[in-house]
Amino acid sequence: MEQIRDRLCRYKNYNFVVGHATAEYIDSLQSFEIRDSDVFLVTYPKSGTIWAQQIIISIYELDGHVNKDSFNWQKMPWLEYKICEYALRPSPRLFTSHLPVHLMPPGLKDKKAKIVYLMRNPKDNIVSYYHFSKAFADLDTPESFDQFFEWYLTGNVAPSSFFDHIREWHSSRDQYNILFLTYEDMIMDLKGVVKKLSSFLGKNLTEATIDQVVEKSKFATMKNDPKANYEHMTQKTFSGKFLRKGQIGDWKNTLTVAQSERVDQVLQEKLGDLSLKFIWE
Ligand code: A3P
Repeated sequence: MEQIRDRLCRYKNYNFVVGHATAEYIDSLQSFEIRDSDVFLVTYPKSGTIWAQQIIISIYELDGHVNKDSFNWQKMPWLEYKICEYALRPSPRLFTSHLPVHLMPPGLKDKKAKIVYLMRNPKDNIVSYYHFSKAFADLDTPESFDQFFEWYLTGNVAPSSFFDHIREWHSSRDQYNILFLTYEDMIMDLKGVVKKLSSFLGKNLTEATIDQVVEKSKFATMKNDPKANYEHMTQKTFSGKFLRKGQIGDWKNTLTVAQSERVDQVLQEKLGDLSLKFIWE
């Protein structure tokens, strides 16, 4: 891995946080054996990852199909960080990942394992990521929002460009068994998203169990649940809140008009030809 900033390194055209993954392990994913029952949640960071994790875990826990580890990051670990021997885990295995298509296990292209790709509008994503970068000791601390804004728009963050991540996954969608969701859909219709997700995952849930999953996934519930709110991190490692604001449109409190227009312009240049509609407020 080539170090490109204090806390940022690059490998195979992709940025990683220094010390979080090794080149050998990332390479080994090319022969990672995929099972038909595997489920992968793929996101660009700060798109609502831990929220969707909570929903998927809650759905699988209804019939006892999740290992009994204590925290969500153990129940549904990041594929790129090896926290245990994944080949020894019982099925169904649940994974999270921020990896781009080209670093994922090729076996996923058999279209049997399921992928949920969650995205969020880039203006709220930038603001959420800025606060996270200030609070998380493993990331480079930006001197100002303006500095972070430049890092983000030029893809100089882990894991590289928001726009490239979405483009790569969206344009490869026909090769995978993949469901696209948005953070904004989850905010506007959580129950609808839970229903859509459970049917994609092949789970036939009753109204009552759907309501149970919705209840467990609400902002207030997760904020008060140390396992869902990632409270295993020490104050020294992470001094902020994973569940910070949880809103659409918070970007208006931070981005200048010029910055907002610049995001519109980059979005148009990079993703304008894809049929994506972002909700901004
Ligand atoms: P904000 O920083 O805008 O509040 P990730 O999990 O990918 O790191 O994303 C974190 C973002 O998702 C944070 O956004 C967080 O508040 C939001 N989030 C997490 N759980 C949520 C929930 N139950 N409802 C709404 N937003 C949620």
